[in-house]
Formats: sequence, structure tokens, C-alpha cells
Amino acid sequence: MSELDENLKQLRGRFDEALGGVRDEKALEGVRVRFLGRSGEVTLLRRGIGQLPAGERPNAGKIINEAVEAMESVLRDAEGALQSLAFESELKQKIDVTFPAIPAAVGSIHPIRRIIQDICGFFRQHGFAVVLGPEIEPEYYNFDALNIPADHPAREGFDSFWLTGNLLLRPHTSPMQIRTMQQHRPPVAVVVPGRCYRRDAVDARHLFQFTQIEGLLVGEDVHMGHLKGMLTGMCRELFGADQQVRFRPSFFPFTEPSAEVDTTCPLCRGAGGECRMCGGSGWIELGGSGMVHPNVLRNMDYDPAVYSGWAFGFGVERMALVRYDIDDIRRLYENDPDFLYQLA
Ligand code: PHE
Repeated sequence: MSELDENLKQLRGRFDEALGGVRDEKALEGVRVRFLGRSGEVTLLRRGIGQLPAGERPNAGKIINEAVEAMESVLRDAEGALQSLAFESELKQKIDVTFPAIPAAVGSIHPIRRIIQDICGFFRQHGFAVVLGPEIEPEYYNFDALNIPADHPAREGFDSFWLTGNLLLRPHTSPMQIRTMQQHRPPVAVVVPGRCYRRDAVDARHLFQFTQIEGLLVGEDVHMGHLKGMLTGMCRELFGADQQVRFRPSFFPFTEPSAEVDTTCPLCRGAGGECRMCGGSGWIELGGSGMVHPNVLRNMDYDPAVYSGWAFGFGVERMALVRYDIDDIRRLYENDPDFLYQLA
């Protein structure tokens, strides 16, 4: 056997051995580079042609080319076999199309926001505007303009977080009564949802930060019957069609007369007895209300002889507890998805 044939035979032996260990296309490419690549074994062999015995040299190039073609055809076959293997194993995979999908996490409107939206929607239908006000207010808007002078004991009940000698986090949304009347001549009709702050210890019924919704209507011949009518309508929208509203005499410096507002307990529907929601009275308290005090109207240059009005301020968390039968106000701010999904 010639020297070239001997070399080619050994090279082919190493080629076949390397190919035997190939399991994927990447390894196959490795074999091709090692033997047929630009600096592979075949190239080395070509470079050695000059050292062959003189008789072998003329045909050497042709013989090497034939060997290369044979190896290339083996590589093509191997590649085809690998591809069909991969395809078949993909076909063999079983996908269980009945397997339940991972549910998408869908957000929902928070119960407090939902109540605000419902109340605002109701009042909008009756021509009220929805307005928002600042959470930091000076004393004037929180107290003085609302007929609560500096030495008045009613300030105690609204004690809050003071930021400076004059500015405080608003303890109620009533300052927006003043801002509204400053900006508009009567008639005015607004509702004001928003956050309020009071220096209260936190328990199942109290938070130091809570939400109120204020209502204000001022015009000619406005009376308490209008207030009762609107609040009854609002409660029917929120809690059910046969909801009643009752007024209990109360005191606020900025309204006269003043009343606490109760509505039929949605759990016992007024039956009372052992009801855990209303404690047996059959009624649930929503907040304060009354006819706008003549001093407040005068402060705004509204003539009390011509104009009258009513206002109310209700706790939104309180309404959420009642509407959704929640036992602890803190649940509304823990952001527990399981809790919120139940109310979504
Ligand atoms: N601002 C009062 C409070 O927070 C509620 C209220 C509003 C009372 C409007 C009368 C009129 O307790």
C-alpha cells in the first residue's frame, strides 16, 4: 500500500471513531471542523504532498479529494439522521391540553373606591359636581371659616396632626365647603370624596387615616327635606331598594340644626334583636349632617336671608364595613389579595 493510502486509511479510522460518539448537530460540526476544516487534518495531509515518494505525488490531490467527498457524504447522512431523530422525539412528546392553566392575576377595584364611585355616580345624576381638595389645610379652612373659633371645645373632637402652627392634615372634608363657596356664587352642588386624618388609636373601628365623602348644596329654598331625600336615594343605591334614613339631633358648629344620619341595618333589615352589625338597634350610623349655619354663609358673603343649604359628611370605611359585612376596619388596608378578591 502506498504511503498516502496508509495515511488516508488511518485518518478515516479516526474520522469514523469521532463520528461514532456524535449525539447532536453541534458535535457533528465539531467533527467536520476537526477533519475537513481550514486547519483540519485533511489540510495537513495536503501540505505533506511534497514529502511523498515521487511516484505518488501526481495523483495525490485527486485521491485526497475522493476521500474528502466520501467523508462529506457520510457527514450529510449523519446530519439528516440527527434531524429526523430530533423531530421524531418532538412528535412523541405528549401535551395534556386539558391541564388547567395558571390563572392570570387580575386586579379589582378596592371596596373604598367602589363606594366612592357609586356615591359620586348617584350625586352626579342629580347635577352635583365631584371635586377634590387638599389634604393639608390651614386652620382657617379646617375651623375658623366653619364657625369653630380658636377657643371652641368642638376643636377637641377634630384634633389632628399639626404640621406647623397653622397647617394641619385635614380631620374632615368640610374645608371643601368653604373652598367651594369661595369660588362659586350660589347655587352650588358638590360632593367631595377624600382622605382625612385624626389622632385616633387604631382598633377594629378606628384608623388615624380614613376616607370621608362630603356633600354640599346651597341655593334658594333648600331645606332638610331635600337632604333626607338625597340621602335616602344614596342609601338605596348603596344598600338596597327599601332602605330608610333617620335623623337624630346632634351638634356641629357649622350646621344648624345638626343631625346624625342613620340608615336601616343592611344585615337584620331593621329587625334588631341579636344583630351583631347594629347591636340590636336596627340602624347603622353613617355620619353627620345639617343645614349650613348662617355664620358660615355670611363668612362666604352668601346672604342667609336669600340662600340656605345643607351639608353632610360620611365615613366611607364605615359604609364599606356595613355594605360588605366586614368585621374589622383594618382589613381594608392590609392588601390581602384573598380578602380583596372576595369583594371584587
Ligand atoms: N365634618 C363632620 C365630621 O367630620 C361631619 C359633617 C359634615 C357634619 C357636614 C355636618 C355637615 O364629623
